[in-house]
Amino acid sequence: MATHKLLLLPGDGIGPEVMAEVKKVVGWLDSHGFASFSIEEDLVGGAAYDENGVPISDDAMAKAFDADAILLGAVGGPKWNTVGFDVRPEAGLLRLRKDLQLFANLRPAVCYPALAEASSLKRDLVEGLDVLIVRELTGGVYFGEPKTITDLLDGQKRAVDTQVYESYEIERIARVAFELARTRSNRVVSTEKHNVMKTGVLWKQVVSEVHGSEFSDVQLEHQLADSCGMQLVRNPKQFDVIVTDNLFGDILSDVAAMLTGSLGMLPSASLGSVEEISGRRRALYEPVHGAAPDIAGKGLANPIAMIGSLGMAMRYSFGLGEAADKLDAAIAGVLAQGYRTADIYSDGMTRVGTTGMGDAILAELGKAG
Ligand code: NAD
Ligand code: IPM
Ligand code: MN
Repeated sequence: MATHKLLLLPGDGIGPEVMAEVKKVVGWLDSHGFASFSIEEDLVGGAAYDENGVPISDDAMAKAFDADAILLGAVGGPKWNTVGFDVRPEAGLLRLRKDLQLFANLRPAVCYPALAEASSLKRDLVEGLDVLIVRELTGGVYFGEPKTITDLLDGQKRAVDTQVYESYEIERIARVAFELARTRSNRVVSTEKHNVMKTGVLWKQVVSEVHGSEFSDVQLEHQLADSCGMQLVRNPKQFDVIVTDNLFGDILSDVAAMLTGSLGMLPSASLGSVEEISGRRRALYEPVHGAAPDIAGKGLANPIAMIGSLGMAMRYSFGLGEAADKLDAAIAGVLAQGYRTADIYSDGMTRVGTTGMGDAILAELGKAG
């Protein structure tokens, strides 16, 4: 059996708490013959800044380039609010995404039937929801230059961020979205603001061209991003795949998370291109949520988004669809049995903490044999 090189980057806040649970699951999959892993661990975010003065060291970057897949917990927190912009915790995550060219960020929002009550929307609007947000992750306003704050002569200040997209960046993310749609319900909504932004004009044009020349069998609709946000909370089940830029994708995926019950439920995969020589696809898997400083250190965090991210690694990096299905079934199983962390708790359910949820998922994996 092939040994998969996993790099664990727990990060800050609840990152190490949810990572501890995923480690148990990795151990279980290994000891039960589903996969063989060799594991490295390193620092990212504020934890790395405290140790090395940078939010990710060159050494950790080298490990990231060497890994078959990276699992990341979360970065950030108020402790680092005053550090320099270039060394803030989030810059470590952005360097990983940019340097590894992880341009395709898949954020599936699935509402488990047992959790429909935990959503902020009514049960009939969200039950059975299965939306995939495909977010462009290495371009747009996150990385565009100039990005500056300057002092003006009159004592005012001027801040500039720059949204840049080149057509190749839009083409490759559109292809990922159309290809994934073919494995699902064959429908893509592309969202931008072509009524205000030049990048929106190019986005819409390039997505239409890729559609026309390679994917005319897939149903394509264009929606303005503000309207798409509205439609997501009005009637979320109309969507199959949503493809969008870096910033709109960030916002829409947090909205989609609440439809499923909690930000603590949403996993993600950040993928690069398949490399010509090795045939390998660089990949980082992380929950959509952040370091959650308000609950960090209390053992309250929901580890499902992190464990689900391992499931995505099984599927997209290791070709272990069976292990991924088993993990998804175990998550659905514990939710059906009523186990709930605080973020998804409702009356009459069994309240558990982070480790309680991890242990329940392990027990469920064990039962399924
Ligand atoms: P957040 O996602 O950390 O938290 C938002 C809310 O959701 C909080 O009330 C939190 O308690 C709750 N929440 C998040 N994850 C949860 C979980 N697993 N279980 C239960 N509740 C959960 O967003 P924020 O508070 O806006 O940001 C905090 C810090 O995290 C910031 O520094 C931000 O930059 C960073 N951040 C990092 C990532 C990442 O590492 N990928 C993502 C988002 C935010
Ligand atoms: C996310 C986060 C990050 C982003 C931050 C921490 C840089 O919010 O992964 O959704 O904005 O992409
Ligand atoms: Mn975000």
